[in-house]
Amino acid sequence: LSSAASLQQNNPIGIFDSGIGGLTVVKQLMHLLPNENLVYFGDTARVPYGTRSEKLIRQYALEDAAFLEQFSVKYLIVACNTVSAVAVDLLSATREMPVTGVIIPGVEGAIRETRNGRIGVMGTRATIESKAYNRRITERNPELQVFGAAAPLLVPMIEEGWLSEEVTRLTVRNYLRPLLEENIDTLILGCTHFPVIRDLIQEEAGDVTLIDSGLETARQVKILLGETGLLNSGESPQQTRFFVSDIPRKFDEVGTRFLGHPVVNATRIDFDEFLMEKGDTIYKSMNLSEQNG
Ligand code: DGL
Repeated sequence: LSSAASLQQNNPIGIFDSGIGGLTVVKQLMHLLPNENLVYFGDTARVPYGTRSEKLIRQYALEDAAFLEQFSVKYLIVACNTVSAVAVDLLSATREMPVTGVIIPGVEGAIRETRNGRIGVMGTRATIESKAYNRRITERNPELQVFGAAAPLLVPMIEEGWLSEEVTRLTVRNYLRPLLEENIDTLILGCTHFPVIRDLIQEEAGDVTLIDSGLETARQVKILLGETGLLNSGESPQQTRFFVSDIPRKFDEVGTRFLGHPVVNATRIDFDEFLMEKGDTIYKSMNLSEQNG
């Protein structure tokens, strides 16, 4: 191996999300790729993204990616369904490193699992309205049918720690009802938060197969890193660093819930200052991509 290649292998994988929901993806990455160095950015100061316009989500995505680029990341993972739904193509077109969102891996998992060709998706309003899952699935196979349900109330409930409360169960039941009436046999958990209440969703969904986009993404990233010769073969133990744009109240509690163990060494960065310094270059790539359609 050339030293340039091994240097790249040692470089971290960058992961970002609108907040700390993306830690459900980090959890899967740490499990499947124990030799990789990870650097995570959660835009906790501006979460949620799921209620915002596509234009603003695209702007945030470029800013978040620019923050991670400072760490010479060899690979960029968009660990947020909302950003993946509207901005992965923009990021792929404007960044130098490979970019993977959570949508395509989730789509592939669902196509693999469905038997009757009827797939449900639950996510934020922005994700469902973008129809990104529908498009990707029917591009792959026009015979498949996709049914979406925006489930915005679950995000704050899960952050609140209401993981098995009756109110959460009834909310899940309500959101699932129209999907189950469509006789889906596979359901994509199209939001970073949903794996945290996977068991409850499974109880309410009966024998429908659940697809965890985060797990599917970690599997796909592992394959892609192998194919491109970017897997870290170094002996050094994995290092994971966490950066957030705000330390919200109950950060430790909520972070632990998503990651499965405490989030150690989270650093709050001054994102406004970063944007003031770097804004010009970030927005230039945004204008360019707008001109390119
Ligand atoms: N991370 C978002 C997602 O997966 C959920 C939270 C938000 O709306 O920002 O869609």
